[in-house]
Order: sequence, then structure tokens, then C-alpha cells
Amino acid sequence: MKIKNICCIGAGYVGGPTMAVIAQKCPEINVTVVDINEKRIAAWNDEDVENIPIYEPGLSAIVKEARGRNLFFSTEVDKAIDEAELIFISVNTPTKTYGIGKGMAADLKYIELCARQIARVATTDKIIVEKSTLPVRTAEALKNILDNTGNGVNYQILSNPEFLAEGTAIEDLHKPDRILIGGDVDSEEGRKAMQALVDVYASWVPKEQILTTNVWSSELSKLTANAFLAQRVSSINAMSELCEHTGADVNEISKAIGMDSRIGPKFLKSSVGFGGSCFQKDILNLVYIAKSYGLNEVADYWEQVIIMNDHQKRRFAANIVKTLYNTVSGKKIAFLGWAFKKDTNDTREAAAIYVADHLLNEQADIVVYDPKVKAEQIYADLEALETHSSDEIHRRVKVVNTAQEACKDAHAVAVLTEWDEFKGLDWKAVYDDMLKPAFVFDGRNILDIQKLSQIGFVTSVIGQAVKSKKTMKEPSMAN
Ligand code: NAD
Ligand code: UDX
Repeated sequence: MKIKNICCIGAGYVGGPTMAVIAQKCPEINVTVVDINEKRIAAWNDEDVENIPIYEPGLSAIVKEARGRNLFFSTEVDKAIDEAELIFISVNTPTKTYGIGKGMAADLKYIELCARQIARVATTDKIIVEKSTLPVRTAEALKNILDNTGNGVNYQILSNPEFLAEGTAIEDLHKPDRILIGGDVDSEEGRKAMQALVDVYASWVPKEQILTTNVWSSELSKLTANAFLAQRVSSINAMSELCEHTGADVNEISKAIGMDSRIGPKFLKSSVGFGGSCFQKDILNLVYIAKSYGLNEVADYWEQVIIMNDHQKRRFAANIVKTLYNTVSGKKIAFLGWAFKKDTNDTREAAAIYVADHLLNEQADIVVYDPKVKAEQIYADLEALETHSSDEIHRRVKVVNTAQEACKDAHAVAVLTEWDEFKGLDWKAVYDDMLKPAFVFDGRNILDIQKLSQIGFVTSVIGQAVKSKKTMKEPSMAN
């Protein structure tokens, strides 16, 4: 079976970049990305490609190349479903905020709505591809809905989880470590559907990197991969606290253990805590699934990854309060960075949100600078927590356009995102503009601490003892 028309439901951080790359690499396939969010689709169609709704290095150039040729963004969901032989479902699957499984299970209402819409509209056979991250055995539910509410057409359900990381999405899509395709390996139709999707990817991905598995393995592999990655970050963050108490340096530890080929160097960077829309949500979902099978030890094991991450964010804020003589009330704290990592404008579950919330509890004034995140997003993130009134948030939190401006007259600077530009700041000028003693809290381990101490800053870095010009090695977080 040769695919000529692809529809992707969901024009978000996964649907947009993934489909742009498929369109780029498969010019013979028409790719239509649809969404119910009209504003988002309008932004994808903005004449100036720099205004597309997602910031990802390299993405705007691909959109420029393919949009209007074989890449289309539209709100006409029914039409795109009808025309496609292959439909990716790439809608959001957030943690449930209500009812059974609240705060843990994945909310599958958007997935189910897509299935019902496809069933209503489709008049020809379709391959449905789960691109969203889903609980194991969701394909069964999808098949049930499609077969029972459809127009008698045949559906094949595939699982094709996405492993891209934000900030490097295009690189990850161009050169994926692997493509995973799960399907009904036991039937001829199932194998044909899998082959059709393999052929799409084979336009640019070497065949040996395209794995085919049964559908349940594919669904569960995605949750497992995210759990393992997040677990590494929580593991190194656990060691960072021990480092602060003992004088060991977490960077040196990461390097030392990462050179062991059995451990490897990636995902060993200690930080203020992992964020992003996936890690926490997917681990909570895994914990919920394990619990639902009565596997309490399995659930507790993975839940600890989240507990450690929450602790890391909380103790970063607590350390700021403690170091600033146990009060930050009315003090100005400059936040460098708000996004959950560099090179993205995504702020979902960003550590900065929670650190800011803890500091607002202490009545701090916060001035934020992030090169890619808009002020309205920062306010929306804080308001969504519902812990402080909108009035208070607008009174205490300011958003500015440069790092230097954020740091002016500040008592302390906190690095929350590892944007490259923060490394190259004129730190002497920053120091001159700040109140003294001038404190820096590096939540990302990116600054040249030796240099900053020489300038006169008192520096506090995750996983290292406090340093200042006078007291180059005085453990402080330890006490
Ligand atoms: P997102 O919120 O950025 O995008 C989802 C889009 O789906 C939204 O624009 C929403 O309006 C749209 N949508 C929801 N219901 C719809 C419907 N019925 N019809 C049409 N459009 C609808 O989410 P995302 O970050 O792209 O994530 C999508 C999925 O991919 C999630 O399951 C996520 O876990 C998974 N995933 C995300 C990443 C990542 O880096 N963000 C990586 C891998 C996997
Ligand atoms: C993650 C997975 O990496 C990706 O495969 C999946 O498809 C979606 O979820 P993403 O959340 O976009 O991707 O970014 P990632 O690079 O994994 O970073 C997640 C968080 O962990 C960020 O806040 C990052 O700053 C933090 N992190 C990552 C660390 O603190 N230390 C590290 O060593 C690596």
C-alpha cells in the first residue's frame, strides 16, 4: 500500500515538527495537519514563518520549504480525515485533573474524541497511528470505538510513539535513534499497515533503525523510555544534594560515572529539576497503570522519581531564602530563563514556575527574562497554579526584555534555564548593577563560578558547596 495523503490531528509540539519533516522528506505525500485551535493554525499559516507557534531550531526553514507544496495546516478536520489513508493522532494526553485517577492517569478524552470523529467521517479504510503517548492497551479501546461506531470501513491501529526532545526536535526527527512501530503482527492486514508506515519513514531513516513490535510493546516502550530518562536526572539530582553536604562536585561525579560505557554520559546533568510536558505526566501514568494491576512496589519505585524532582525544585527555592538571611520578603530576585530547557518556548512543568511559586509564598519580587517565552505565558503559568491571586502575581512578578534589565537592583540572580546567552553575559556589569552582597544561584550548572567569585558574587550551584571571593570553599547548603 502506498500512502499519498496523511492527516495529522493535533498541530502541537509533536504534530507540527513531525509532519513538517515527513513533508520535507516525502515530497510525493500530501501532509495536512489539523487542529481545533484556530489561533494555532493561523499562526502555522502566518506569512512570516518566524511567527509559527512553536520555536524549534531549524523548524521555520522546513515550514518555509514545504508549506503550500505538500504541507498544509487547517482547521477542516473532517475533510483531512476523509482524504487521508493514514491518520496520525497527535493530540494532548495530559494528566487527569478530575475523577478517578485524578493527578495520575492520562486524560484520554481528546483521543476518544478523535476516534469518534474519524469513525463518523471515514468512508474508506484507514490506518490510524497513535503518535500521542498513551497508556498500554489504548489501541484496544481505539479499535473498539472505531469498529463499533464507524461506517463499516476497516481500521488498522498502529502505535508509533515519538521520541523527539524539544529544542532538538528537528535534529531528532532527521536522525532518530530508532523509529518504533507497533501493530497487529499476527494478521496480514496488520503487517501491511505497518509496512506502509515503515515505507514513509524509510524515505530518510535507515531500515535497520525502524523497529516493528507488537502494539503493546510499542505503547509501553514510550512510557518506559521517559521513565528511564527522568530516573537518571532524579538520580543525579539526589547525588547533588549529597555533594553539597560533603564537598564533592556533582559535575565531576557525572563525568566520572558517565565514562563508564555501561552508564554513558547523557542525562546526568544535575539541575533545578526536570520539567517539560512529558516526564512527570508519563511517569504518573506509569505509576497509575502499575497500581491498577496491583503492582504497588513497581508503582512506588517509579513514583520516587517524581518525589525527588519535587524536592529538588523546593530545595532550590528554600536555599535562596536561607542564603538571603532567611527572608526574601520584598527582595528582588532576577530569574534568568523560564522555559523548561533551552532552545524552546515551551514552559509546561518548567522548574521556574514552581521555584517562583515557592518564592511568592515568601513575598519575593521576581523579575523574569527569557529569550523566547512571552510575558502572557509566564503570568498564565503562575495563575494556573491557583496559589496566588492574579493581582498579586502581576504586582510581584515583572517580565523584561534583557537579562541585564532583570538583574538591575536585584538582591539575587537565579539561573532557571540553561540558555547559552547567560554564559556570555557581561557578568561584571551585572554585578555592578546589583545590590550587595550580590548572590547568584545557578540551577543549571552553566556559569563560570570561579570567574563570578572573582568578580565578587557569592555563588551557589546545584551540587557544589557555596563559593565567594573570601570563602572559596565554605559548605552552606549543608547546614
Ligand atoms: P500540544 O498540546 O502541543 O498539541 C496538541 C494539539 O492537539 C493542541 O493544539 C490541541 O488543540 C489539539 N487537539 C486536541 N484535541 C483535538 C481534536 N479533537 N481535534 C483536533 N485537534 C485537537 O501537545 P504535544 O506536546 O504536541 O503532545 C502531543 C502528544 O505527544 C502527547 O501525548 C505527548 O505526551 C506526546 N509527546 C510529546 C512530546 C513533546 O516533546 N512535547 C514528545 C513526545 C511525545
Ligand atoms: C523528553 C524525552 O527526552 C523525549 O524522548 C520525549 O519524546 C519527550 O520527553 P523533552 O521533555 O522535550 O523530551 O526534553 P529533555 O531533553 O528530555 O529534558 C527534559 C527535562 O529534563 C528538561 O527540563 C531538562 O532540562 C531536564 N534535564 C535533562 C536535566 O535536568 N538533566 C539532564 O541531564 C537532561
